[in-house]
Amino acid sequence: MKNEIKPAKGKLGALIVGLGGAVSSTFVVGTLAVRKGLSKPIGSITQLATMRLGKRNENNFPKIKDVVPLTDLNDVVFGGWDIFSDNVYDSAVHAEVLTKDDLDGVKDELLAIKPMPAAFDQNWVKRLHGTHVKQATSRWDLMEQIRKDIRDFKAANGCDRVVVLWSASTEVYLPLCDEHQSLAALEQAMKDNKEDKIAPSMCYAYAAIAEGAPFIMGAPNLCVDTPAMWEFSEKMGVAIAGKDYKTGQTMLKTVLAPMIKTRMLGLDGWFSTNILGNRDGEVLDDPDSFKTKEVSKLSVIDTILQPELYPELYGNVYHKVRINYYPPRKDNKEGWDNIDIVGWMGYPMQLKVDFLCRDSILAAPLCLDLVLFADLAQRAGMSGIQDWLSFYFKSPMHDFEHVPEHDLFIQYTKLKNTLRQMIGEETLDYLD
Ligand SMILES: NC(=O)c1ccc[n+]([C@@H]2O[C@H](COP(=O)([O-])OP(=O)(O)OC[C@H]3O[C@@H](n4cnc5c(N)ncnc54)[C@H](O)[C@@H]3O)[C@@H](O)[C@H]2O)c1
Repeated sequence: MKNEIKPAKGKLGALIVGLGGAVSSTFVVGTLAVRKGLSKPIGSITQLATMRLGKRNENNFPKIKDVVPLTDLNDVVFGGWDIFSDNVYDSAVHAEVLTKDDLDGVKDELLAIKPMPAAFDQNWVKRLHGTHVKQATSRWDLMEQIRKDIRDFKAANGCDRVVVLWSASTEVYLPLCDEHQSLAALEQAMKDNKEDKIAPSMCYAYAAIAEGAPFIMGAPNLCVDTPAMWEFSEKMGVAIAGKDYKTGQTMLKTVLAPMIKTRMLGLDGWFSTNILGNRDGEVLDDPDSFKTKEVSKLSVIDTILQPELYPELYGNVYHKVRINYYPPRKDNKEGWDNIDIVGWMGYPMQLKVDFLCRDSILAAPLCLDLVLFADLAQRAGMSGIQDWLSFYFKSPMHDFEHVPEHDLFIQYTKLKNTLRQMIGEETLDYLD
């Protein structure tokens, strides 16, 4: 059924938590460069991908952005928060992802984008020492301050709508507890200032939802993935999505694991290791932050392989994931996978993958797509968990009744079919 989609008129504020980070600055610089015609939006589905409409022999493959009412890049205004006060130009220089030439093309705009003071608590990200942070009497007060920031930003920049994107650091591992089970319990815990149960990220998420702004979780933080937040987002009619961008090693995993399973090959073990030298690598060097990432990275294989259905193939898989902080490589991560597979009559074989990638270069186009698609969902009246955006996440959010879909190409089909449905077109079984 076709959705009534409100037109993308006026400005869209993209408020980024962790504005000064490597991913965020690469996202902002790239978007500004693309809209000035200085660069190409490589890796972005919203800017480059086509979508078949009608029968194949009708040969109608328009670009998604030409048939789906997405916000024009010229109407996006950037802002956000960080624990360091650097403007985005200085942050991007510090991140060392992009060349000076690329930064200088949009220097004036970057100099003008400065972060608002952050909602931060060092107990939640132990390796960082923030200087540009809010003072608050409670988590509730912290959340109220963020709400005010969102309203003030909207007014100051003449924004019609806002999307809030978390691209800040990975917080320490937090299991689901009673305080997260209902909206009432969450609000009480924020007012009671239960600092060990309410992560700063939850204050941002609550504030965004309260202000009617879609919230996207790009890190593996529990944050918005709780019954309390699902309830709040449904109540407020706000779209939420997460969690943990699926960019490098896990993206490959969600392509290779379905291949192994489709051919009914067995799997004995999957060893994944990484070296990474940026600030994210430093944060993840802390075991408590790494635990959050590990849970996210490990969730993929079991769901795809369904060991309960195929115990003789996948009943005893040894799956290990490691991230090693190695400063010389900076943002240029190297990820190795050793995959021990099993063939006909039980004969072992091995697959080796060595992905020399660039973390923020892979993540930036996802940020752009997520901001534009979350805004679209909001205008189309779609609230709660946006599982059609699972394509972008390592740990796709889902409620207790559903199971997550990890296979990259099934996720992509779902994404396109949701877009087709939104504009009143027939859905397709093909990837087209
Ligand atoms: N790059 C990828 O491929 C990828 C993939 C999946 C997830 N991620 C996640 O995306 C996030 C960003 O990655 P990055 O490489 O840009 O890291 P980064 O360390 O360069 O950037 C994080 C930024 O967040 C800021 N920050 C931390 N806590 C904050 C808070 N409470 N409020 C506001 N700002 C805060 C830090 O000061 C820093 O500027 C990380 O959580 C990372 O795990 C990245």
